[in-house]
Amino acid sequence: MRLLAAGLVILTACSVGRPPPDATGEEIYAQLCSNCHGDELEGRIGPSLGPGSEAEAQPDSFLELTILHGRGRMPSFSSTLDASQLERLIVYIREVQGR
Ligand code: HEC
Repeated sequence: MRLLAAGLVILTACSVGRPPPDATGEEIYAQLCSNCHGDELEGRIGPSLGPGSEAEAQPDSFLELTILHGRGRMPSFSSTLDASQLERLIVYIREVQGR
């Protein structure tokens, strides 16, 4: 019984901050990125990702690498997002950039 309870605690801890599997790109952004990059991608602690930003000029592979491995003070999200969530997130960022 005690083991089961410990297992549950660990499971819950691991799922905190993880977007639901079917979350839209916008929902994933709001949950994981907006604190540092702003609700409208305008930038806060982290640089702007919106229209006219450095991120807009960069290829998708740069966004992917940054999100998966982190950059400077930005944490890595490789264990938070699956491939399809990552793709939806990048599609959303490109939409806001108007690309
Ligand atoms: C804890 C704050 C934080 C969170 C959360 C965060 N970032 Fe960042 N991000 C940063 C900082 C700081 C940088 C600048 C890193 C550097 O170049 O030193 C950055 C850089 C980036 C860059 C490169 C931009 C450029 O101009 O070089 C991209 C793209 C990016 N973040 C996307 C995201 C996405 C998408 C998410 C959500 C999955 C996210 N970030 C979550 C802080 C954060």
